[in-house]
Amino acid sequence: MPFFENKLPVKFHLPEIVKGPWTREAKQRALNRELLEHYIEYFGKSMQTRNWSPWHNFPLEEMRVLGHRLSEETIHLIEGFLGVEEYVGDYVNGVLEYFRDNRLRRNLQLQWGAEETKHGIAWELVLKHSLVRTEEHLNAYLDKVRNFRWTPEQHPGADTPLGVSAYAMVQERATYFNYQEMRARIREEYGLPLNPNAEEQGRGYEAGASEAFRVVGVDEIAHHGIFLKLIQSYIRYFPSMTFETLTKVFSGFAMPSLLGIPNSRHFLRAVNRTDFYSTPIHREKVHNPVLKALGLENHDAFERAVQFARKLPENLGPDSVKLSKLGEWVVGYEKSPATS
Ligand SMILES: [Fe+2]
Ligand SMILES: [Fe+2]
Repeated sequence: MPFFENKLPVKFHLPEIVKGPWTREAKQRALNRELLEHYIEYFGKSMQTRNWSPWHNFPLEEMRVLGHRLSEETIHLIEGFLGVEEYVGDYVNGVLEYFRDNRLRRNLQLQWGAEETKHGIAWELVLKHSLVRTEEHLNAYLDKVRNFRWTPEQHPGADTPLGVSAYAMVQERATYFNYQEMRARIREEYGLPLNPNAEEQGRGYEAGASEAFRVVGVDEIAHHGIFLKLIQSYIRYFPSMTFETLTKVFSGFAMPSLLGIPNSRHFLRAVNRTDFYSTPIHREKVHNPVLKALGLENHDAFERAVQFARKLPENLGPDSVKLSKLGEWVVGYEKSPATS
């Protein structure tokens, strides 16, 4: 009998544990409960809908047939993304210490890391089976990856459990965008339309490396989704602290490890030559969609929200304050949990 039924539970209702007025401790307890609900939902979906293996679920033979069509730029870009994904040990280890006394965040970090381990393998297999990199070359590349060490201190604001979530929310969105762009590039070079053709639809998977980027992209947007939910909950309970952290993370944002990857020079040259990423692209494809997902119209609205969040009273409950699209906080009456 399968461990899981096919259906996901709609929502877990955890026991109500908040009693008393909205003190800082009461808010933290209620927030923790919400974060746990988000994690349970994320974990269930991960087990049921994103349980794939790079060695078993990709059309590796088809990559071999189509590999000669990939351009030099595309190959350098894939190799760069292999490097970025290969720091997964640092990404987990670097922040696990923050979560030593936080069982939920420790488990999320480990589960997220387990999913990320498959991405580096995916890009290694794409390069190898497309016959564009030899096994010796890849082994030498992977050896060189170790010369650089990623730490969260390389990213402003990413030095607390909240800051890690804010950074990951942006980074995962950017990674999703990058892999969607890679998938589009590969499809064009393969001579395929952007959307799956009739043959791909019929068999249920995309051609060669396009399928690998599709599958990994689904992971990345799910990662963006869980960190977004954590931040949305933080905003409900600790709006001013959350917006201070978001300000730091947004203003100092850079993708992880790019200067440390072994083919950094070739990668960055390929990025420039193909117009793959730039500050305007980041603003349009990553920053603005993140703000929209947080319910804000644009960056002006974000700055307004930051200013006004500083003035909010400390003891507000989660449902007594609402953020408008324009970044204004609407404070309303709410009974404290003790009197409800
Ligand atoms: Fe990844
Ligand atoms: Fe990810």
